[in-house]
Amino acid sequence: MPTSSPAPDGDPAADWDRFDSAFYLRHNYAEARKDDLRFASAAGDFFLARLRGRTGLRGVDVGSGTNLYPALTMLPFCAEIALVEYSAANRRWLEAEVPGYSPVWDPFWAELRPKDGYREIADPARLLAARARVESGSVFELPRERWELGTMFFVAESISADEADFRAALLRFLAGLVPGAPFAAAFMENSQGYLVGDLFFPAVPVTEADLRACLAGLVEDDLVLTRESPGEAPLRQGYTGMILACGRKREAPDGRRPGGRS
Ligand SMILES: C[S@@+](CC[C@H](N)C(=O)[O-])C[C@H]1O[C@@H](n2cnc3c(N)ncnc32)[C@H](O)[C@@H]1O
Repeated sequence: MPTSSPAPDGDPAADWDRFDSAFYLRHNYAEARKDDLRFASAAGDFFLARLRGRTGLRGVDVGSGTNLYPALTMLPFCAEIALVEYSAANRRWLEAEVPGYSPVWDPFWAELRPKDGYREIADPARLLAARARVESGSVFELPRERWELGTMFFVAESISADEADFRAALLRFLAGLVPGAPFAAAFMENSQGYLVGDLFFPAVPVTEADLRACLAGLVEDDLVLTRESPGEAPLRQGYTGMILACGRKREAPDGRRPGGRS
């Protein structure tokens, strides 16, 4: 596995194996932000409404990094959750955290716990440890139509400065889901790139309009975009907000009927 995240055109974008997981966790999640908590809650509500009591599904979180809250939103519905991560440093962090996660994730579970399905889970840390598996992989090489539920937070726009990579990553994430699968994907709005410790990582500045354009024709009509402003406590310089896209992969992405021929 190379240490850079290969863009489809082969250009190395960043040295992901030197990603400072501890710094990223501290900076982004040590204190739960209101925008992240609202995203956790909104993703949970969307999954509940669309899945209506379904359980035993195969879920995936792509580019988990040091963030467990996307996986927690999928917990009631999934028998297994793949945490697909490209960076060896972040896989090491996940391997250590998943068997017994720290209190950092408690505020996120507190958002989810009052909801149907979540409330029945007495020990989310134990259940996540039983159901989640860390996998090495790249969003650009995901298997097709494997997962029935998916999340991808701050990945497609935050792994390259090339707009084509952003689109390819988002499309490959959707391609990994079965038709009709619900998903939640989060994006930094207008990101200029970001520092993790002393390493700079690239980004593509995206807006709600870019997301709608990229997803057009690929998702069902119930796509919901939620935007959060940085407000008085921006996470860092160089972005204008955060966007959550909750939707369902279209049953017949390119106009085909399910089971029909193209
Ligand atoms: C900005 S971080 C987001 C991490 C986490 N999902 C979050 O919500 O904070 C970008 C993540 O994408 C991962 N990544 C980089 N290249 C990738 C690739 N080709 N496929 C999948 N993940 C990748 C990085 O290792 C990192 O964990």
